[in-house]
Amino acid sequence: MKKLKAAVIGMGYISPSHIESIRRTGIAEVKACTDVNHELAKQKAAEMNIEYVYDSVEEILNDPEIDVIHNCTPNFLHKEISEKIIKAGKHLFSEKPLARNSEESAVLVDLLKKNPDIVAAVNFIYRMNPLVQDMKDKVAEGEYGKPRLVHGSYLQDWLLYDTDYNWRLEKEFSGESNSIADIGSHWIDTAQTVLNSKIVNVFSSLKTNIPVRKKAKGMVEAFSKQENQDYEDKKVDVEDSGMVMVEFDNGTQGMFLVSQVSAGRKCRLDLEINGSEASCYWNQEMADQMWVGHRDKPNQQVIRNPQLMSPHSQQHTNLAAGHPEGWNDAMTSNVRSFYKFILDNKKLATDKPDFATFEEAHYIIRLVEAILESNLTKKWVNIQ
Ligand SMILES: NC(=O)c1ccc[n+]([C@@H]2O[C@H](COP(=O)([O-])OP(=O)(O)OC[C@H]3O[C@@H](n4cnc5c(N)ncnc54)[C@H](O)[C@@H]3O)[C@@H](O)[C@H]2O)c1
Repeated sequence: MKKLKAAVIGMGYISPSHIESIRRTGIAEVKACTDVNHELAKQKAAEMNIEYVYDSVEEILNDPEIDVIHNCTPNFLHKEISEKIIKAGKHLFSEKPLARNSEESAVLVDLLKKNPDIVAAVNFIYRMNPLVQDMKDKVAEGEYGKPRLVHGSYLQDWLLYDTDYNWRLEKEFSGESNSIADIGSHWIDTAQTVLNSKIVNVFSSLKTNIPVRKKAKGMVEAFSKQENQDYEDKKVDVEDSGMVMVEFDNGTQGMFLVSQVSAGRKCRLDLEINGSEASCYWNQEMADQMWVGHRDKPNQQVIRNPQLMSPHSQQHTNLAAGHPEGWNDAMTSNVRSFYKFILDNKKLATDKPDFATFEEAHYIIRLVEAILESNLTKKWVNIQ
């Protein structure tokens, strides 16, 4: 069978996970990459055995052999580059958030509607963990009863010190929000996926804990430590933590906390659902396990076991029970479901994929904007 040929634009922190995942699918291969930092692209291509390093985005767009392009650039380039990819007739796997704001993301959603043969996905990884997919199926089957409450968090510590700095802290590059757009969006996507319901009302309180940071004068890759650097003071006016109360369109209430200044927490996305019959809890740092809570019998600590999972969620798991699966496996599952969708000749207008669509990602950006508005007005904001 002919493998789909892929290219990656933006060879920073997240790109190796894309490249590894494309290869692990077995149905696609990576032909080329590019980065505005050509030396970085050459170095990473050599490390990961990618044959072609192109000089520009245009060179990738003009290669007729390339079927799919992964947009792994910072947020401020998502709209501009994704627009070019769609207009070039290539399938598109975009990093999240879809764009800096809903004005930009709406343009992409409209453009995609006019190009119905193009398949486009957004990399909301966590929904693709097998236990999250299983939770979603079990919620739909009523295993925990009617969901009443959903709560959780996404906590990190990579912005704990004032010497921690990244483009995510500058509105021009990131958009108006930092923590909510960067990691709160992941919690929102995971919660909406599991409940199969949209958040329609939000009430928030956001905080910039470190209003002046020290920005290194040299180049620093995302999430790496700045050492022996010359610094300049930079005013920061985006949040690095926040609390959000939410209401879903099916009536479920919820709340979540995001923070990038919680020492010891790395990528702690967790989610608990309290249903009318039972509760369930999942934490992505221990992605291979979940907890099920009962009132009238002992609680259960469940280990992922394909034999006990719903037939649908079994397609998102690879290893037998006891061989832990984690973040990279969820990433591969996300990428595989996207490539399979293309090869099965499915269309976004008629088939519902497991991966996040541009429309879903656009809705999440609207929610992020509603959360920013609520923080300013100190009022509930409805987005429908
Ligand atoms: N889905 C996830 O869990 C996840 C995790 C991390 C990052 N991300 C997303 O991935 C994107 C990139 O984040 P990162 O952490 O890898 O950032 P990064 O800064 O490490 O990498 C971005 C790369 O893009 C390159 N670039 C900048 N302008 C370019 C241009 N015009 N053409 C080509 N390349 C250009 C930069 O040189 C850099 O190498 C962001 O949107 C981020 O939100 C998603």
